[in-house]
Amino acid sequence: MIFRPQPRDRGAATRERMKQWVQKVDQRLPELMPAVDERPEKVHEAMLYALTGPGKRLRPVLCMSVAEIFGEVTRPVVDLACTIEMVHACSLILDDMPMMDDASLRRGRVTTHKVYGEDVAILASYGLLNRAYAVVVERALHMSLDRYTPEDLVHLLTEAVGSRGLVGGQALDLESAGMPPEAMDLERLEFIHSHKTGALFTAAAELGAMAVDARRRHLSGITRYAKNLGLAFQIADDLLDVQATPEETGKDGHQDQGKLTFVSLLGVDGAEALLAELLSFAVESVEPLGRRADSLRLLAEVVRRRGRL
Ligand code: IPE
Ligand code: IPE
Ligand code: MG
Ligand code: MG
Ligand code: MG
Repeated sequence: MIFRPQPRDRGAATRERMKQWVQKVDQRLPELMPAVDERPEKVHEAMLYALTGPGKRLRPVLCMSVAEIFGEVTRPVVDLACTIEMVHACSLILDDMPMMDDASLRRGRVTTHKVYGEDVAILASYGLLNRAYAVVVERALHMSLDRYTPEDLVHLLTEAVGSRGLVGGQALDLESAGMPPEAMDLERLEFIHSHKTGALFTAAAELGAMAVDARRRHLSGITRYAKNLGLAFQIADDLLDVQATPEETGKDGHQDQGKLTFVSLLGVDGAEALLAELLSFAVESVEPLGRRADSLRLLAEVVRRRGRL
């Protein structure tokens, strides 16, 4: 008799593997950082504080999920996935600062600038970003990939963070606060979300593929998946802002008042419907991969229920 795992077992095994990836990332992140007793001590401490707070680690897990589809999640792949989390932590420090969202709570803890001061927080943000680039180069140089150069990997990440990516989205997000309602339209909103959040999701997925030397023609379905997932993720976050408590999210509630979000434009029902639609587009994009895409389906499910792995 041939033993075939039932879908439920398969789902549980996938979730277990992905939870182990979260643990690996949590273990590796501090190891990739400068020691806190190395000068500048305060900046190094703030970098570690922002990075190692209890985040969901969805972006590195996305990176590792894609790497597993086309190859193997080796130690250098884990380190590359960690660089995405460093960039993410860098963006969160700035996003919370008074001149941006002015937040006091992040990941259930006091925000970095409130603990270390705004001067140290800005430097810690720069520190994390540049440490991420350094680790990408260090790892990529030793991976001997046939299809991608170390420059390709760094270029991917820098473009995702820059003014054509995350920075661009954040800039328009800030501009949207206090805009007259007639200037707030769906096209502008999609630009904001796909840049401030979607760009890093897409880079995480593509970095995972490049890290295992996946063929370029295999990237298109993955990219489409990640774009839809990233946009859906930000809509889920906008919904949490109005629906969940700070105890549940670990963040200040109602941060988006006066901002252009899918909830302010379409209402809760409209945002929920769009979230579901985008997640089904995401899952459809990786349908041809069959069971190999189980982890990507599970990630979409995590975003749908707005939770953790
Ligand atoms: C928060 O991202 C910033 C957004 C793009 C909405 P996450 O919700 O992934 O934050 P952590 O990493 O789990 O804290
Ligand atoms: C921020 O979006 C996206 C980033 C690039 C950090 P939000 O401002 O909605 O993120 P939260 O709600 O503060 O986590
Ligand atoms: Mg913001
Ligand atoms: Mg914010
Ligand atoms: Mg938010």
